[in-house]
Amino acid sequence: MGTSGLATLDLLVGLVAAGGWLGAGAAAVAGRARTALALAAVAMLATLGRVWTVVALAGAGWWFVQEKVTLTLPLAGAAAVGAAVLAGPRLLGGGGPGAAVPLFASGYAAAAGLVVTLLAGYPATWSLAVVTVALVAAATLVTVRVVLPRSRRRSGLALALALALVLVGWGLAVAPVATAGTSGGTSLLSLRGPVTPDPGGTVRRVTLTTRTATVTLPSGHRVAAWTFNGQVPGPPITASQGDLVEVRLRNADIAAGVTLHWHGYDVPAGEDGAPGLTQEAVAPGGEFVYRFRAEQAGTYWYHTHEVSDRGVRMGLYGALVVTPRDPPAGLDLTLPAHTLAGRMLLGDSDRLATRTVAPGTPVRLRLVNTDNTARRFTLSGVRYRLVAVDGTDLNGPGELTRVGLRLAPGGRYDLAFTMPAAGVALLVNGDRTGGLRLAPAGPTTGAAPDPAGWPELDLARYGTPTATPFDAHSRYDRRFTLVLDQGLTLRGGVPRFEYTVNGRAFPTIPAMLVREGDLVRMTVVNRGRVSHPWHLHGHRVLVLARDGRAVLGSPLWMDTFDVRPGEVWQVAFRADNPGVWMNHCHNLSHAGQGMALHLAYEGVTSPLHEGHGGAS
Ligand code: C2O
Ligand code: CU
Repeated sequence: MGTSGLATLDLLVGLVAAGGWLGAGAAAVAGRARTALALAAVAMLATLGRVWTVVALAGAGWWFVQEKVTLTLPLAGAAAVGAAVLAGPRLLGGGGPGAAVPLFASGYAAAAGLVVTLLAGYPATWSLAVVTVALVAAATLVTVRVVLPRSRRRSGLALALALALVLVGWGLAVAPVATAGTSGGTSLLSLRGPVTPDPGGTVRRVTLTTRTATVTLPSGHRVAAWTFNGQVPGPPITASQGDLVEVRLRNADIAAGVTLHWHGYDVPAGEDGAPGLTQEAVAPGGEFVYRFRAEQAGTYWYHTHEVSDRGVRMGLYGALVVTPRDPPAGLDLTLPAHTLAGRMLLGDSDRLATRTVAPGTPVRLRLVNTDNTARRFTLSGVRYRLVAVDGTDLNGPGELTRVGLRLAPGGRYDLAFTMPAAGVALLVNGDRTGGLRLAPAGPTTGAAPDPAGWPELDLARYGTPTATPFDAHSRYDRRFTLVLDQGLTLRGGVPRFEYTVNGRAFPTIPAMLVREGDLVRMTVVNRGRVSHPWHLHGHRVLVLARDGRAVLGSPLWMDTFDVRPGEVWQVAFRADNPGVWMNHCHNLSHAGQGMALHLAYEGVTSPLHEGHGGAS
């Protein structure tokens, strides 16, 4: 069973324990001692069972069990022992309401464990422990007053004490924490790109104007969208290595404001398009000019970063493709996959698209996932290679056939092959009514095979290893662990249910502070029940291991890696691009609900108000 399955099993067993104890208490009150005994026995077994589930879960890492080991299991265990000692003999002797209190108390303790895991998770803090224990005590005291009315006077004081402790714990939790902020030093806004291309390069000038529009898709569907220059996707931006890319962003009428973020492109920090951090969002009527040198060849994309979940979903995205100075001949297609108003777009088409390609033509397909959830691409009719991931070429990629390619939100895959004499089909999520067909002559392709049963390509075992500038055995200057989950957060004392990193949500997650030149190791743990595609701005990361297993194939450099429930990713990067960078989940709706933090270089600060929605 996987880590995520074990975590669910542990919750279910905990639920049985809580239900068993509470049911036993109710039966004892009703004077049904035998039923109470039976239910208590079930609850006791479930409580013991949790020792096994927690030990098994601990094998995946301390982050998955910390609150269980330090708080909830000891609490539930102590309460269970108390119930057995105090209620057991009475129930065997025929019961009575006195037996009910310890049974109920054990039920509250077991239920508290569930609540702690679901609402607080990692890391369990002292304030959480105080609140939890005090609440269980308060609930028990209320029970005493209800089932044993004669004890009212004695329990009153204790109840008041327990409630006071709840308040103290709550107060500790909302007390502001000192965050390691830096001030002074270099302003982020001065870290701008160069104004000239490399020798021999040209300046690629593009103007992108954002406006609301109704676009007519190839299928005839008309949808309300937010567009760059009236179209979805926005115009592709292409450049040769060494060119200067100069993009003038104008906002006609997007009231929420817009920016341009160069996803995966390691531009100077001041060009990164993170609103409230590297610039203010461009309001209607405003403009902003971005400049950077096209130094990395490969497949990238751009998108708005202000209210990015809504903005990207509505259509504010496009491809950024940089080719070597002498690009290889052949067909080169860039295909962002996007869901626009419920219609699945591949490139600019929301229906099956066909192209005629002469046999023998070298073909490169650049796949971009611009959605919030992973997509499964399949290619049939040809043996092909996955030649690049997130813009970086793989080493020694072998030929592939009949596999599913799972692409993270925000990620890119480049596929290459030579056009065969028969048709080739590219499908997204197995949808045979859509996608792209390449036909040697005329649109007379047969049906694409059903790829449902094809296995998923394991990137960690694809291609051949080669030297990397650092690896799992390097000496790291900094190490950070990000434990991703969902939970209750407090903003100004107001509770919300948000996507969290180490129990906190944006903007209160402490920044990862580094010094220029540091070698940084980042561990990303998904404790939650949904995938979190992790994206660091301004840097590519080298994947060291996933779930403790090293990458055995080509080195994997990624800017967006999908951390699925229960997974633990170890990645590393060189801090070589000074700035303050967003570091967030690229399910942009999660980022908007708290799952975002900063990577900050010492000595670099932003004069802007960071809290106003860099991620949202
Ligand atoms: Cu493509 Cu901060 O995102
Ligand atoms: Cu997420």
